[in-house]
Amino acid sequence: MSNSRPELFDFEGISMIHYFTDNWKNIQNFQARPDDILIATYPKAGTTWVSFIMDLLYFGNIEPERQTTLPIYMRVPFIEGAFPGLPPGAEQADKLPTTPRLIKTHLPVQLVPKSFWEQNCRVVYVARNAKDNAVSYFHFDRMNMAQPDPGDWNNFFNLFMNGKTVFGPWYDHVSGYWERKMTYSNIHYMFFEDIVEDTGREVDRLCTFLGLSTSAEERERIAKSVHFDAMKKNKMTNYSTVPVMDFKISPFMRKGKVGDWKNHFTVAQNETFDEHYKQKMKNTTLQFRTEI
Ligand code: PPS
Repeated sequence: MSNSRPELFDFEGISMIHYFTDNWKNIQNFQARPDDILIATYPKAGTTWVSFIMDLLYFGNIEPERQTTLPIYMRVPFIEGAFPGLPPGAEQADKLPTTPRLIKTHLPVQLVPKSFWEQNCRVVYVARNAKDNAVSYFHFDRMNMAQPDPGDWNNFFNLFMNGKTVFGPWYDHVSGYWERKMTYSNIHYMFFEDIVEDTGREVDRLCTFLGLSTSAEERERIAKSVHFDAMKKNKMTNYSTVPVMDFKISPFMRKGKVGDWKNHFTVAQNETFDEHYKQKMKNTTLQFRTEI
């Protein structure tokens, strides 16, 4: 991996970096199977959390050795990832030995490989309110040398509002999947805030969507083991095995809260953001909670 941070460029109308476009042909030609499950999110919305929940639901009991040997990013490959020294995500996904195959993406809905829709795959989308999502993304870009330099908070705040962050505008991403849900019924749309509020309830809803008959005791056990503190300590879920991340700057499992934006947004930034948000989100019925 090069020492310099990647540059942002326009790709199919979306701000991207080369790590997610280098393998583009293979990503677009990926052959999904009907039982594949796509976990789709805007970066920093709760991907790892929901990936871990789903991995435990499907494989926690039947393959317990996964829990101590395979980091979450190997269990749930990042389909568009193409990082030096690692097999490309599309190849890892293709070779997954599990059924179902759990596959992660941050691609906006219009760039998702067609075969997922053609095969009527289940899609679990996780969304997080824009303010906390922006703050989490800022700290991630600070600590992850494979992401563009975010500059200071004020700089990143403007980049986020203008969609100049990797994977493009948050606004279009969350509303794109929301609108797709109206015509494609196999999407389960989850909110980070709901999972914080009541993890057990969200695990129940997820099981209903996935058609799983996991026992109540097992669901409860899973809800406990995916608690923030447990995942932060767990080497298989806290990303401490990834060399491009500098945990001295900020840990991957940073705070896991709803409302941390209040520690970052100035009063003036908050007003500007709210005004801009109203405009960007005026055509969608999608609603978020910025506190619980
Ligand atoms: S990534 O890089 O896009 O895959 O990141 P992602 O996993 O989507 O998001 C990381 C943020 O999710 C928080 N997180 C959690 N919060 C509460 N409980 C649990 N169990 C949990 N697991 C992950 C993580 O701390 C990041 O949010 P911030 O606000 O930065 O702490």
